[in-house]
Amino acid sequence: MPKRDFLALFSSFSWVLHTQAQYQGFAPFKHDELTYTIRVPESTAHSGDGPLYFQMNTSRPIEWFALGQGAAMHDSRMFVVYTSGDNVTLSPRAGKGHYEPLYDKTLRASLISGTGVHDGTLTANVRCDNCKLSPSRATNLNYAFSPWIWAIKFGASLGTLSLTAKIAEHDAFGVFYVNLTKATGPDNDNPLLNIDRRSITKAWTQPFDHNGFDRKRTAHAVLMTLAFVLFFPLAALTLHLLKSPQTVRIHASIQLFTLAMTVAGFGLGVSMAKDVHILKHHHAIVGFVVVCCLVLFQPLMGLLQHRHFKKSGGKGPFAYFHRWLGRAMIILGVINVGLGFELTGIGSSAVPRGAVIAYGTVAGVLGLMYIVVIVGKAARRGCS
Ligand code: HEM
Ligand SMILES: *[C@@H]1O[C@H](CO)[C@@H](O)[C@H](O)[C@H]1NC(C)=O
Ligand SMILES: *[C@@H]1O[C@H](CO)[C@@H](O)[C@H](O)[C@H]1NC(C)=O
Ligand SMILES: *[C@@H]1O[C@H](CO)[C@@H](O)[C@H](O)[C@H]1NC(C)=O
Repeated sequence: MPKRDFLALFSSFSWVLHTQAQYQGFAPFKHDELTYTIRVPESTAHSGDGPLYFQMNTSRPIEWFALGQGAAMHDSRMFVVYTSGDNVTLSPRAGKGHYEPLYDKTLRASLISGTGVHDGTLTANVRCDNCKLSPSRATNLNYAFSPWIWAIKFGASLGTLSLTAKIAEHDAFGVFYVNLTKATGPDNDNPLLNIDRRSITKAWTQPFDHNGFDRKRTAHAVLMTLAFVLFFPLAALTLHLLKSPQTVRIHASIQLFTLAMTVAGFGLGVSMAKDVHILKHHHAIVGFVVVCCLVLFQPLMGLLQHRHFKKSGGKGPFAYFHRWLGRAMIILGVINVGLGFELTGIGSSAVPRGAVIAYGTVAGVLGLMYIVVIVGKAARRGCS
């Protein structure tokens, strides 16, 4: 085979490998009468800044149809398309509420080649130059579930080229969610020409429950922070600070209660990790190990040592296991709370930098206290 053909074959093979997931598509009527296809160039995904492309197709006659960035009309940027003969108009508009969105000249978007009416299908190929996008992060929910709205008004062509044309309320509308990572492909002057349909993956139509997720995340963070920074270490210290026949009972009760808190927090964590497909993230793995070790060994080892003490009055091997596993898991847990903050995004509105500094300070002070108590007691024992 001539070398050139071989190269061509090779490049077409690698092209096939690369055809996966470069666009996200959505068809509200499932008959391709209306399709929206979204594409993010790699450089835009990387920096969070740059052009974004989308294609809007309809084979049913329309007065207008539109695509918008946002989860509802309010606060969205919309791209409304209508025709006059074979001329296509793109009118970028600002959504303010449940009423007609008006032309917004600050939105920089333009029609690129491929736009027009072909065999009864109206195609608008759009390049948007200031559509906002946060830089890609695997765990950024606005990235994996980027909300887009669509709407359509069926009927005869508006027959105007005016960007400020009056439009009537839609006949159909909805929301879909784009995984922007799956919409990303190589930089290209016009990625909307000759789209290979195999490289279009379906966008989500089930709404992602952002509010529910946020509530779970807050509860998870509160339970885990209280457990690892406050309750586990303080209940461990009761054994050193409290001299009473009830000490062991108090210690065990608080620790079991805290363990229950941890298990509840763990359940919320697993549910969230499933929602956003990050079960293999290091925060999830460390959390899994810590919670499993605590549940499997701590109560059992504590109980076995207690029985040993009742028989012999001394410390058995279980005591050391219980003590050192407990300390190690508290330290790992405290670190893992930090990894959780990092996962959500330190400096974001959910995790302000100040909160992380406060967390670090409290954890540091408590850690120091813990060491002072343990070392102080050992020293006193050494002296006497
Ligand atoms: C003349 C223009 C428009 C009017 C008068 C209008 C009016 C409305 C009204 C009254 C609703 C509430 C419907 C309900 O709850 O049953 C609504 C919802 C909606 N509209 Fe529009 N609309 C207009 C243009 C658009 C455009 C251009 C888009 C898309 C790009 C759009 C997308 C939506 C979506 C996604 C919803 C549901 C989410 C939400 O409540 O915001 N609309 N609209
Ligand atoms: C939209 O229409 C154009 C022109 O008819 C076509 O080339 C393109 O494949 C269509 N896109 C989708 C996603 O069907
Ligand atoms: C289409 O656009 C061209 C150039 O702006 C204009 O001359 C023509 O009249 C338009 N056709 C219709 C049907 O609006
Ligand atoms: C988004 O797409 C990427 C790349 O295909 C994938 O790894 C990730 O799990 C997807 N996220 C969601 C939430 O589906």
